[in-house]
Amino acid sequence: MRDKPLIAIGTLVVLVVAAIAFMAGRKSGGEPSPHPVVATAATASQTPAAPSTTEAAPRGNQIDGIRRGTPIDQEGTPPLMARVENADIKRNRAYPMQPPTIPHTIDNYQIDKNSNRCLLCHARANADKFQAPPVSVTHYMDRDDQFLATISPRRYFCNQCHVVQTDAKPLVANNFKDIDTVLSEQPQQKAN
Ligand code: HEC
Ligand code: HEC
Repeated sequence: MRDKPLIAIGTLVVLVVAAIAFMAGRKSGGEPSPHPVVATAATASQTPAAPSTTEAAPRGNQIDGIRRGTPIDQEGTPPLMARVENADIKRNRAYPMQPPTIPHTIDNYQIDKNSNRCLLCHARANADKFQAPPVSVTHYMDRDDQFLATISPRRYFCNQCHVVQTDAKPLVANNFKDIDTVLSEQPQQKAN
């Protein structure tokens, strides 16, 4: 038959195309890269209720979320310093005994043995003059819950507990829920 060589060539072409297609398939999908895809899939299957993470959150294959994806043998560029917000706007407290964040700048406010600039405005005696909220009664209590006439020594260094408000983004993901959220979720759980 005169067609024989043609059929042979045709079969060869089909085989070569199939082989190329097979190799390409292995490269792109069949053999997954060992990095992010596998890591997230693995963590997801281990902890089905894994919380959704923010963009700055640590990924499964990273040692430390604060490194923001920089490999450990390289030095990362530090993020820009956060700007202090000076807007006089109070932020919500996440839980009842959270020290409120400071809604104003505290640059050059001296706090040492001789002087406490914060108390110039926040001491009970001065609060009306500066229209500042006076420190609460807990700031006058010693560790035995006795009330002192002046600010308690353990509440003297204000910025041990109070921090200024900045526009910094959270470094790691956080799925903290305050008590109001927990309480509002409970009726739904009972109904299920
Ligand atoms: C010049 C007066 C003044 C000084 C000094 C001052 N504050 Fe204030 N502070 C205020 C005023 C007024 C407010 C009320 C909100 C506003 O107007 O910014 C306030 C608000 C606050 C709040 C928020 C209270 C709340 O209930 O949310 C905190 C916390 C605070 N200050 C801490 C400090 C600390 C700590 C220092 C010292 C490092 C300090 N303040 C120094 C005047 C002052
Ligand atoms: C040991 C931690 C700590 C220190 C130090 C401290 N505070 Fe507080 N502060 C708190 C906590 C916690 C709260 C919220 C609960 C409460 O009122 O005790 C608070 C509340 C406040 C409030 C809001 C009061 C209100 O009635 O809402 C102001 C204003 C304040 N602090 C200012 C100061 C100033 C000024 C200093 C320094 C003289 C200071 N704090 C030192 C922990 C602290």
